[in-house]
Amino acid sequence: MRRFLFILCCTALLSAQTLRQAGAQRALLIGAAADATDANPDPLVKEPLYASTLETQYSMLEPENAMKWASIHPAQTRYNFQPGDELVAFAQAHQMQTRGHNLCWWSYNPAWVTNLAATATPATMASVFQDHINTVVTHYKGQVFAWDVVNEALSDSQPAGGIALKDSIWYNQPGIGATGTGYVEQAFRWAHAADPNALLFYNEYSVEAPGAKFNAMLAMVKDFVARGVPINGVGLQMHIGITGSPSSAGLAQNIQQLTALGLQVHITEMDVKLPVDSSGVASAADLQSQAQTYQRILTVCLQNPGCTAFQTWGFTDKHSWIPGSYPGFGAALPFDASYQAKPAVASMIGAMQTVPPVLNAAALVNAASYKGGAVAPGELVTLFQANYGPGSLVGAQLDSNGLVSSNLAGTQMFFDGIAAPSIYALAGQVSAVVPYGVSSKQQTVVQYEYNGVLSNTATLPVVPSAPAIFALDASGSGPGIVLNQDLSLNTSSNPAAGGSVIAVLATGGGTVQGGATDGALAPGAGNQTLPVTATIGNVTETAVYAGPAPGEVNGVMQVNLTVPTGLTGAQPLILIVGGVSSQSGITVAIK
Ligand code: G3I
Repeated sequence: MRRFLFILCCTALLSAQTLRQAGAQRALLIGAAADATDANPDPLVKEPLYASTLETQYSMLEPENAMKWASIHPAQTRYNFQPGDELVAFAQAHQMQTRGHNLCWWSYNPAWVTNLAATATPATMASVFQDHINTVVTHYKGQVFAWDVVNEALSDSQPAGGIALKDSIWYNQPGIGATGTGYVEQAFRWAHAADPNALLFYNEYSVEAPGAKFNAMLAMVKDFVARGVPINGVGLQMHIGITGSPSSAGLAQNIQQLTALGLQVHITEMDVKLPVDSSGVASAADLQSQAQTYQRILTVCLQNPGCTAFQTWGFTDKHSWIPGSYPGFGAALPFDASYQAKPAVASMIGAMQTVPPVLNAAALVNAASYKGGAVAPGELVTLFQANYGPGSLVGAQLDSNGLVSSNLAGTQMFFDGIAAPSIYALAGQVSAVVPYGVSSKQQTVVQYEYNGVLSNTATLPVVPSAPAIFALDASGSGPGIVLNQDLSLNTSSNPAAGGSVIAVLATGGGTVQGGATDGALAPGAGNQTLPVTATIGNVTETAVYAGPAPGEVNGVMQVNLTVPTGLTGAQPLILIVGGVSSQSGITVAIK
C-alpha cells in the first residue's frame, strides 16, 4: 500500500514539473531573454505574471537589450547600469544565473559612438572599445557568469574556405586597427582581463545548419582555441520557423564540431515564429508543429553534454521582437500573451524527462585522480556529464541491509548489469564504486539510469588495479588525505614525524584477500590481494597495512606507512599496487 502511494505521489510530481525543474535534472540552464526599465512599460516591475513566470520557469535570464551599447552607454561619459542591475538583482533574488549580452555588435550602437566613428582614428576607437568592455565587465564581475562578447561578426555570404566579416565600426569603419578577426580576438582578451572567471561566448545567427557561414565561424573559433584566445563557448541564436528549420542531424553535427574543440554550446535566442491572424493568434495545428520544433531542437541539445544552456528570446508572446520585425508573424514563444503555457512547454518538459542521458566513456574517471581509461574492481569512480539526475546533490545512503545503496534518488550506475554502490548523485556528476564482480573480466559494460530512463552503454577495459590517492581539496593533486599516527589530519601545519606511521586514503587497489562485499562498510581488516609498496620522497617503503579503510565503503583503501627519517616539508607520495603507480603530484607533510 505504501509503495502504491509513493508511485502515485511521484508520477504526479514529475508531470507537474516546470521548465526550470526539468532543466535542473538535466544539468541544463533554461533561460529566457528579459527586459527591464529600458522597455516600455517595464514588465519586470509592472507585470506580476511576467516576474512570476520568469522565476518559476527559468534558471537563467539574459537582458534582451539592457546591457547593449545603446542602453548601457548612452553618452561617452555616462553609463546607465540601472536596467541591467535590476535584472541581475532579480536573477540573484531567485537563484538564477545572468547571461550578459553583448559587448560588441555591429548594430544598436549609441549615436555618440557612430558619430565618433565617422571621424575617429582606429586608435581612438580601440581606446573607446577597451574602456567600454572593461567598464561593463568589471561592473558585473562575479554577477554575470557568461558574456556574449561579440555578436554577429560574420557576413551572411562567405567565400569558399575563407572568413568574411560584416562591415562595422569595430571591424573596418574605421575599426580598432586590427586585421581580419583581430578585433573579435581583442574583445575576448579585454573581457577576460576584466573578469577572468566569466565564460566568454561568440554569438551568431544562421549557423545552426551546416553551411558556409558555420564553416567560417568554426574556422574562426578553432583558430582562437589553437592560439589560446580566451573563448569558452559559442551561442547558436536559433531564430527559426516551423518550416526551413535546421535538421536535427545537421544541428547535432555542428554542436559536435564545436564541443570537440572543448567549447560549450548555448542555444541563446530560440523562437519559432508562426503565421498569426490580426489578433496575433496562431492556428492549433501550427502550435503543435511549434511544440515539436522546440522539442526537437532541445532534444539535440540534450544529446550532447557540451550543450549546457537552452534559452528562448523572451518567453511570452506579449513581449517579443517577432511581430514588429516580421509583419503577419508572431506567437513565437512558449507562453502566450496571457502567460498561459502553450503546447511547447509540455513538449520541452517531456523531452527533458525522457531523452536518454548520454554516457561518455571518456568522462568516467577515478574519483581521486580523475584519470580515465580503465577501471579496477572496487575503484571509486566519478562520471561527469551525467546529464540526467537529481537537481541537487544527494549523498550516500545505507539500505535496509546496512549496505551503501546503489539507488540514490532514482540514479543508478551499472557494470555488466550489476548495480554499483552510489557515493553521490547530482545531474551532471555521479559517483559510484565499481562492483567486485568485474574482477575476472577483460572489460565491462557501463550504463546509468535516472528515473527508469537508461543511458547508452560504454565498454571500458578492466585492470587489476588503478591506484589513486585522495587529495585533501578533491582536486586530484596537492596534499593527500593522510592521517598522522594520532589520527589527526596531516597538513603543512600538522606534519608527521620521521619514524611515525601515517595512514594514506586511496582507491583503485583492486580486490581484497577473502573477497569484499559491494557496498559494505569495511571492518578495517583483510589485505589487498596485490602487493602494495610506496615511495615517500625518494625512499621506498613497504606497507605496514594495506587493505579496506575501517568504516569506509569497501573500495576505499588505507595504506599505513612508516615515515622515513631525514626528510622534511611537502614530500611526493606515491602508492604502487601490483606494479601500477598512483598519480603524481600528491604530497605528505613531514617535520
Ligand atoms: O529603449 C527604447 C524605449 O525607451 C522606447 O520606449 C521603446 C519604444 O519602441 O523603444 C526602445 O528601444 C527599443 C529596444 O528594442 C527596447 O525595446 C528599440 O527601438 C528596438 O530597436 C530594440 O530592438 C531590439 C533589437 O535587438 C535591437 O537591439 C529587440 O528588442 C531585441 O529583441 C533584438 O535582439 C536581437 C539580439 O540582440 C541579437 N540577435 C537578434 C535579436 C533579434 O533582432
